[in-house]
Amino acid sequence: MADLRTNIGGLELRNPVITASGTFGYGIEFEDVVELHRIGGIVMKGTTYEPRQGNDYPRMAETACGMLNCVGLQNRGVMYFAENIYPRIRKIDSRMIVNVSGSSPEDYARCAAVVDSLDDIPAIELNISCPNVRDGGMAFGVTTEGAASVVRAVRKAYRKTLIVKLSPNVTDIVSIARAVEAEGADSVSLINTLMGTAIDIEKRRRMLSIGTGGLSGPCIKPVALRMVCQVAHAVDIPVIGLGGICSAADAIEFIMAGASAVEIGTANFLDPAVSVKVVDGIDEWLDSHDVASVRDIIGVAE
Ligand SMILES: Cc1cc2nc3c(=O)[nH]c(=O)nc-3n(C[C@H](O)[C@H](O)[C@H](O)COP(=O)(O)O)c2cc1C
Repeated sequence: MADLRTNIGGLELRNPVITASGTFGYGIEFEDVVELHRIGGIVMKGTTYEPRQGNDYPRMAETACGMLNCVGLQNRGVMYFAENIYPRIRKIDSRMIVNVSGSSPEDYARCAAVVDSLDDIPAIELNISCPNVRDGGMAFGVTTEGAASVVRAVRKAYRKTLIVKLSPNVTDIVSIARAVEAEGADSVSLINTLMGTAIDIEKRRRMLSIGTGGLSGPCIKPVALRMVCQVAHAVDIPVIGLGGICSAADAIEFIMAGASAVEIGTANFLDPAVSVKVVDGIDEWLDSHDVASVRDIIGVAE
């Protein structure tokens, strides 16, 4: 057995495999079919201060080697989470991480402050690629100042490990990663979905209710991997890599690109136990290549 432990911004994980937000519910839904204690961490569904209805249906469309979604952060708000979901998920023996979104820096911060008071939540993942209502629909994550302003506000309200999830829908992801690092982020995760669309040619209209959606799955892996390489070279904080990971080999690619941990998203829809299989596959690869610790291969592919 290889040593699979890793550390993301002060948060110790028993192994580098985490489930990605929006693709594994709150984890608890899978307790009968997945050995949750074998997953390094679980990033729960996107949470906002106020409840959100999400977008109209249809919200999902299948694409070649991936999918589009425009769920739109449907959730019952952080107070509901704290009172009704937290008491159920706190018994899960894995690192339980809340994915936080908001419509202004203050909105993010007040959501983060509620999560800060929950003892068994050791980290937040800030989703800075959701619509910025105040700035007329621009996402915070696509400008360095927007990204910095959210992290600055949240850092004041939140003391534990702060992971900032970056948007790939930018021309220069490195400058955004550096900006959030400068504001006190403990780690960055990347990538969120790539903006895309699909058209139903019989109905002669777009397939998703709001026209566009986020592309995820194996088709985005090369883009994600390229961005992880770039960011890992540019920042000193640990990087979490994701985008299209389906197998241990995919995960190892991201780790060799510089990721200290990985997240698995869309692949959960095909097999909810995929994360545990990826953990086992990484372990087997390390053993068969005489590598003692997963930490020994982080960033080895220059
Ligand atoms: C249905 C669905 C819902 C998602 N919801 C969220 C969310 O609430 N917050 C977030 O940060 N990312 C969300 N994501 C993005 C994923 O966490 C992940 O970044 C992305 O899908 C790329 O990884 P993958 O190719 O392994 O799926 C969602 C993705 C999907 C497919």
